[in-house]
Amino acid sequence: MSEKLQFQDRLLSLGLGRVSEAAALASARFIGRGDEKAADQAAVNAMRDQLNLLDIKGVVVIGEGERDEAPMLYIGEEVGTGQGPEVDIALDPLEGTTLTAKDMPNALTVIAMAPRGTLLHAPDVYMDKLAIGPGLKPGTVTLAQSPSERVSALAAAKGCSTEDITVCILDRPRHEDLIAEVRSTGAAIRLITDGDVAGVMHCAEPDITGIDMYMGSGGAPEGVLAAAALKCMGGQFYGKLLFRNEDERARARKAGITNFDRVYTRDDLVRADVIFAATGVTNGSLLAGIKRDPGWVTLETILMRSKSGSIRRMTYKTPVK
Ligand code: FBP
Repeated sequence: MSEKLQFQDRLLSLGLGRVSEAAALASARFIGRGDEKAADQAAVNAMRDQLNLLDIKGVVVIGEGERDEAPMLYIGEEVGTGQGPEVDIALDPLEGTTLTAKDMPNALTVIAMAPRGTLLHAPDVYMDKLAIGPGLKPGTVTLAQSPSERVSALAAAKGCSTEDITVCILDRPRHEDLIAEVRSTGAAIRLITDGDVAGVMHCAEPDITGIDMYMGSGGAPEGVLAAAALKCMGGQFYGKLLFRNEDERARARKAGITNFDRVYTRDDLVRADVIFAATGVTNGSLLAGIKRDPGWVTLETILMRSKSGSIRRMTYKTPVK
């Protein structure tokens, strides 16, 4: 008789931290070496090996791509020992491959785990994203508002001037109008070249990061990971899938999505308690990057559980092998 095992997030969380650390450790020797693919592959291999040691019946729902595109950690791949609770896994073994290759800030390894069937299987298309930090009324800002309306609404809610607001946006030609409109309000913009999971996470700790709001389009899979992080840290997230052609709509249909105009809230993307781990690869405002000293490597990991609202920051120092 097989009884369905509960999702023991407390017990599994430390294991998830190790998975995230292993991926970062493997990418360490590729920081600043100009080889994005090699950095990513090393992180993928290490994350997969470590994930397969966990006592879970895991299925990758956000991964390296469709089965025919990615040999490892593809969407639908079963991971874990097969002994344990049924869980969904969302991961990005190296979020910011270019940041790593160029030794630029905020490259992370990221992984989230939740009970089976509770993480949105987001297709690999763009998502229009909007995020703010904790302590604000739901719907303070919305995707239906224009960018300048969002800045004004957030400033009013925070009791400050629009000039005191800083918005984080990916530096892309497609964001030219968005950037101009946000600038017209007097708000400041922190442009990032990559890594919008970290960009969104920055909203959760505005006192430390200086970021009040995240806006703009980026990968939909990264949107689910960012929502998982905010579910643990507090904060609001809204996302709408963007389709450029019929092939992208077909990808969404294949992932079981029927309403193409839906605005997903944080809790639509992550429908149950989640655990989330991220390890810094390059230095950032949320996490220290990998530090190499003669004979030693030091890593910093953030490990969070939405059920308890606990946030751990763990330093891991290990001899170089
Ligand atoms: P990597 O896949 O190279 O790690 O890039 C990550 C990223 O910057 C995400 O953070 C973001 O969601 C996406 O790429 C943006 O896509 P694009 O580069 O097409 O604008």
